[in-house]
Amino acid sequence: LHPLSADTLPGVPVVDITATGPGRTPIQQVMGLMREHGPVLVRRLHGRDALFVGDLDLVADLADEKRFAKHVGPALENVREFTADGLFTAHNDEPNWARAHDILMPAFALGSMRTYHPVMLKVAQRLIASWDRAARAGEPVNVPDDMTRMTLDTIGLAGFGYDFGSFGRDEAHPFVESMVRCLEWAMTRLARTPGQDYSAADAAFRDDSAYLAQVVDDVIASRTGTDQTGAEDLLGLMLTAEHPADGTTLDAANIRNQVITFLIAGHETTSGAMSFALYYLAKHPTALQLVQREADALWGDRADPEPTYDEVGRLTYTRQVLNEALRLWPTAAAFSRHALEDTLLGGRIPLRAGQAVSVLAPMLHRQPVWGDNPELFDPSRFTAEAEAARPVHAFKPFGTGERACIGRQFALHEATMLLAMLVHRYRLHDHADYALHVKETLTLKPEGFTLTLTPRTAAD
Ligand code: HEM
Repeated sequence: LHPLSADTLPGVPVVDITATGPGRTPIQQVMGLMREHGPVLVRRLHGRDALFVGDLDLVADLADEKRFAKHVGPALENVREFTADGLFTAHNDEPNWARAHDILMPAFALGSMRTYHPVMLKVAQRLIASWDRAARAGEPVNVPDDMTRMTLDTIGLAGFGYDFGSFGRDEAHPFVESMVRCLEWAMTRLARTPGQDYSAADAAFRDDSAYLAQVVDDVIASRTGTDQTGAEDLLGLMLTAEHPADGTTLDAANIRNQVITFLIAGHETTSGAMSFALYYLAKHPTALQLVQREADALWGDRADPEPTYDEVGRLTYTRQVLNEALRLWPTAAAFSRHALEDTLLGGRIPLRAGQAVSVLAPMLHRQPVWGDNPELFDPSRFTAEAEAARPVHAFKPFGTGERACIGRQFALHEATMLLAMLVHRYRLHDHADYALHVKETLTLKPEGFTLTLTPRTAAD
């Protein structure tokens, strides 16, 4: 393999960040660098070069599955320390990737969302009960914290029949705290200064990852040997399903890696996406009114509507709001590809086989194809007509190709339903005049975003 070096990339700006390091917001740092140097650049840290792109033509080229494939880069290699060959972090050629992908795909087909719908609704109702209490008490709700409670309980119950009971706790479930620390470790490990001692951070990481594994073993143990072993959810498939072509099954170590992967991938990004959507709605009264109108058209002034599966499919404007939030802040903000053979990226950037490129989705989502005001929150960018008129690779919050997000429909169903239920029920008050502060723990969240709530009345 040839490590990427800026010396072989004539014309691509090189920005050496060794003096400051990437800090705690590496994604926003590269966004800033691209605003200054353009949407293609090499970031140099301690002599190591990484190529970042946000340019539409290059991203479209990288989506060519015949010439490029997913790259498990340094950040994901760090995540592999606790998810190993789970779907997200598996190398393309590890047999367990294709095996697990083929076994689990049916569980994520659009029709399967019908199966998860009742559980998603149940957890949405838990969140509403908790927000009703806050509204009565006149207390603010912490949006990202509560969205995380909601998404963790949903994936736990829908995927594994396991109840994290997050709304019964004042603090986040310890699984979340350990997971966030593991993700932070994976991120900050990239920024280490050679020669310094990080053994305390590494020991803390090992404790946290051992705890994650222990929770996962509990999740699996509470299922195996019961009459629910073959239940039709993710865990049921993992424990019993045979590969459609060769009849093989997943081994115990891989099941553990998949459960941990799904518990993390299945909640962290969706919770950020919901939080950004609520942030933009709280700041944009016209968009808020339109989502409310859409929900009201379905549920009128019913106090406790129980959305049906089909109704969620009719919440098209709500879905546009989510897409627009994911455009501005795609919560899994970067993904990487490597060249399968020596090639010219976009016909102009020479890459050797194995060399990697990272796509910075937040900058792709601000390219000229999005018009003159890409910073403006405008859900009308996602009407069916607008989408049809735009190049397909202009919007990539879920990655690309066969390694794209398997849980996309799951996330969108869960988030669309909850968003509509919330705006139907509450007036959202930006009581603290919140100034956006995006926290990075590999994924993105609007940190410290709180709202106060009052029930809507027929007059609202
Ligand atoms: C992969 C984003 C929700 C499970 C990915 C990738 C992205 C992504 C960008 C590709 C990563 C890469 O190329 O390296 C998101 C976003 C979500 C979301 C923005 C929410 C808004 C979910 C949910 C689940 C899930 C709800 C599970 C229920 C996965 C898995 C993979 C993946 C297992 C790896 C797939 C593979 O490589 O075979 N996601 N995701 N994600 N996602 Fe999601």
